[in-house]
Amino acid sequence: MSFTLYKRLFQYLKPYLPKVILAIIFSIIVGAISTSPIPIIQKTFDKIFVEKDLFMLKVIPLALIGLFLVKGVLTYAQNLIIFGISWELVVSVREKLFAHIHRLPFLFFENNETGHLISRIINDVNIMQSTITRLMKEFMQNSAMAIGLLFWLFYLKWKWAIIAIIVFPFMAFPISNISRKLKKFSHKGQEILANVNSTILESFSGIKIVRAFGLESVEREKFERHSGNFLKVMKKNVKYVEIVSPLLEFLGVVSAGVVLWYGGNQVLTGEVSQGTFIAFVVAMFMLYGPVRLLFKIYANIQISLAGAERVFAILDQEEERMDEGKQELVQFKDQIEFQKVSFRYPSRETMVLSDIDVTVKKSEILAIVGMSGAGKTTFVDLLFRYFNVTSGKILIDGKDIREYRLESLRRNMALVTQETFLFNDTIWNNIAFGKTDATKEEILQAAKAAHVDFFVKHMDDGYDTMIGERGVKLSGGQRQRVAIARAILRDAPILVLDEATSALDSESEKLVQDALHHLMEHRTTFVIAHRLSTIQNADRIIVLEKGQIVESGTHEHLLSNSGLYQKYFEMQMFNVDEKSEDLKEISKDAI
Ligand SMILES: Nc1ncnc2c1ncn2[C@@H]1O[C@H](COP(=O)(O)OP(=O)(O)O)[C@@H](O)[C@H]1O
Ligand SMILES: [Mg+2]
Repeated sequence: MSFTLYKRLFQYLKPYLPKVILAIIFSIIVGAISTSPIPIIQKTFDKIFVEKDLFMLKVIPLALIGLFLVKGVLTYAQNLIIFGISWELVVSVREKLFAHIHRLPFLFFENNETGHLISRIINDVNIMQSTITRLMKEFMQNSAMAIGLLFWLFYLKWKWAIIAIIVFPFMAFPISNISRKLKKFSHKGQEILANVNSTILESFSGIKIVRAFGLESVEREKFERHSGNFLKVMKKNVKYVEIVSPLLEFLGVVSAGVVLWYGGNQVLTGEVSQGTFIAFVVAMFMLYGPVRLLFKIYANIQISLAGAERVFAILDQEEERMDEGKQELVQFKDQIEFQKVSFRYPSRETMVLSDIDVTVKKSEILAIVGMSGAGKTTFVDLLFRYFNVTSGKILIDGKDIREYRLESLRRNMALVTQETFLFNDTIWNNIAFGKTDATKEEILQAAKAAHVDFFVKHMDDGYDTMIGERGVKLSGGQRQRVAIARAILRDAPILVLDEATSALDSESEKLVQDALHHLMEHRTTFVIAHRLSTIQNADRIIVLEKGQIVESGTHEHLLSNSGLYQKYFEMQMFNVDEKSEDLKEISKDAI
């Protein structure tokens, strides 16, 4: 399990292999130089103090300075390489994740809240970075140092060396247990952090409702619950992480005590030189540093792997991707057919749409009416292939939409919904993003057609006005008109209006309505609306109830039918404007 993870992490390092090898070589040299004080100490004592060798008195300090100059330079170079690579990796993994998530099917977002995704892209990738730097830098360097010191220990006095290190192998078992625990905590901790993220995101993006309903304390409690959980996990985590060093140190010192007593005796009897003894003791204490760190890396590496695991879990959702068709839908030209279309959300038992049969010819308007929850939005969502139909088929120009490349399918469609989605950018850019290669003229024309021009004139910065997060600095009607301008600019042959005017006051509604009429010219339109003026112009109206088409026909036809449509009409479910007053008269006459 861990092995495959390492292998995968290694894949990311492959493009940097020459640099990585260089860094590893540097690490090893740095580690080795770190052990150089040992022979130096031995020589200082035995040659300078005991034998009074004056030549050595000059050579040794110079050697020391030279070696540590090399060490300093290499350490710097090594850090430049390793951190350089690891930051490049972080950025590229983030970009990869972001792009990948954008390719995942719609359903993915129902199971993964935005806050959780932020946590993956930010925190988990950071953790992944620390794995790589740890492995390349600390692990290599400390291993080199530990091996170097072990070499000196055995070189100086192998019997003492055995006593000094005998405890370490016994530590491996408890520490691998701790390591496994840490991995579990890490998963838990990251999960909780993701919840914290989600709470922050929801709480502040819904600040208006939170304040209006006085939900601050509820939100605060939710936040405190998550952060309290985080605290608990972290405290447990600390208990395990921090036990490693003191435990090792203590056991190390016990064996050091034995060496001191035993070796000290041998120095007194003249069996071993003072220099050797002191060099040995220094090496022994120096060894605990890298060994402790290596054990700590060993324990912590599981945490890092947990981060990588979560990142890979998302990248592995590849197989869930919608298999795209190969055909290009260059330009929609004939008709759209729903053939016995049924649909069920995977999370639900019951069908949301059943046996929908309807054909819309080019340039026709299909109106969809029905109570809320009837399945209207789902109906048009299927056209965009946010979801695949559960059974039946949707055909465009005679071909199943699953045969088209998604991008080419969606290029033929424009969408205006009730909740307009605007970016925190200028009005100009919010319109421009309807068509990436639009000219200035085109954008201005679209803005005029949607009556955006009308309110932009009164703004200090005109089209360069920043509109705030999700367009909060605009009124509902203004937002809607920007969204319509964007759809006009897109100039797609198929237009979907999902309650595009329901949230508007009557004045802006008229403007929006007018803008919509501009938009609908020469287009095939699916319109979900509460507005009679839009509906009555439709070539066909379908009435949905519980996911089924219960009536269909023209406005006049349906009114004379005295069915559900007529009931809605009488209940004044449709907003009525002046133009339709006449029609109401007419229809009354008709009845
Ligand atoms: N993402 C979803 N997951 C599960 N059920 C959903 C989802 N979206 C909508 N539904 C359910 O499908 C039904 C139809 O929803 P929708 O098409 O939005 O209705 P309408 O637009 O007519 O108001 C509703 O009962 C709703 O609860
Ligand atoms: Mg809806």
